[in-house]
Amino acid sequence: MLKVGFVGWRGMVGSVLMQRMVQENDFADIEPQFFTTSQAGGAAPKVGKESPALKDARDIAELSKMDAIVSCQGGDYTSEIFPQLRSSGWNGHWIDAASTLRMEKDAVVILDPVNMHVIKDALSQGGKNWIGGNCTVSLMLMALNGLFKADLVEWATSMTYQAASGAGAQNMRELIAQMGVINASSAQLLANPASAILDIDRQVADTIRSETMPTQNFGVPLAGSLIPWIDKDLGNGQSKEEWKGGAETNKILGREADPIVIDGLCVRIGAMRCHSQALTLKLRQDVPLDEINQMLAEANQWAKVIPNEREASIRELTPAAVTGTLTTPVGRLRKLGMGGEYLSAFTVGDQLLWGAAEPLRRMLRILVE
Ligand code: HSE
Repeated sequence: MLKVGFVGWRGMVGSVLMQRMVQENDFADIEPQFFTTSQAGGAAPKVGKESPALKDARDIAELSKMDAIVSCQGGDYTSEIFPQLRSSGWNGHWIDAASTLRMEKDAVVILDPVNMHVIKDALSQGGKNWIGGNCTVSLMLMALNGLFKADLVEWATSMTYQAASGAGAQNMRELIAQMGVINASSAQLLANPASAILDIDRQVADTIRSETMPTQNFGVPLAGSLIPWIDKDLGNGQSKEEWKGGAETNKILGREADPIVIDGLCVRIGAMRCHSQALTLKLRQDVPLDEINQMLAEANQWAKVIPNEREASIRELTPAAVTGTLTTPVGRLRKLGMGGEYLSAFTVGDQLLWGAAEPLRRMLRILVE
């Protein structure tokens, strides 16, 4: 049985990974060893299978005993430990949620419903480094898989509506705390049906701009507002999150030599864990909409086409509907006024599932099978 080490299993992505592995009975087929950066010797988590006490996640000799290591510990851990492990001669599989190694030549960005061929090619050539993609990119590709499979996309631009979870667990808490502060500040006015809406609005605006808003993590208010910048400033007007759209899509698809231009604008909004994105796609041909719908629906079992109608869109194509599920619905499909080759689309997906934990879990399964 494959000996698999888990690091960072207690954090947000790691916890979602554990939940999914338990649900799918994945632990039955591996020998798990849990590692910790702080509590070596402690008891392993209950995952329905006995495993030894926790080991030190910085102990290279212990890590080296593993056939595969799955890390959700974050980029700093990867930067510190991965080079030491490899230079010690360890030749196991490294499966990582962090972005650190993503663009390395010998790393595959894993999203098997979309790029199984890339994964299989790398495996047959002795590939050992399997890195989860950026959540926004993975969710876009899951939903629009059919169009990329048919090589129909000439270029695409994506305008994102990204959830708090992408920034981290503390940011999710802060979003709710901000909502609470806003609500508390206007509760009295709200309770009075005779109060004037502009008084409520002024109170809310004053609160959002005041020192009472908790903004330690986001730096600025998100509740009742939005943040039109995600990740680092690359200094050329583009955010790092926007750069990832093109770079990672082409790496996932294995077409870095013949890239599709993907660019856009990434925005943080007050959703909890579902990223949404509005896309404009330039197709290589004017393909009829019913054929497009069929391609999208058939590409994988998670991409669900939502009819481009009001009722279906507001009920099924939202973070509220999708959160906590593996479905990556795609809707608002319509040929734009620019012409038959211009397609509009809107997708939603759970950032912690297909955007983070699920591709890692499935990569482990590919290694086991
Ligand atoms: N960078 C993403 C975000 C999450 O901030 O929403 C991780 O892929």
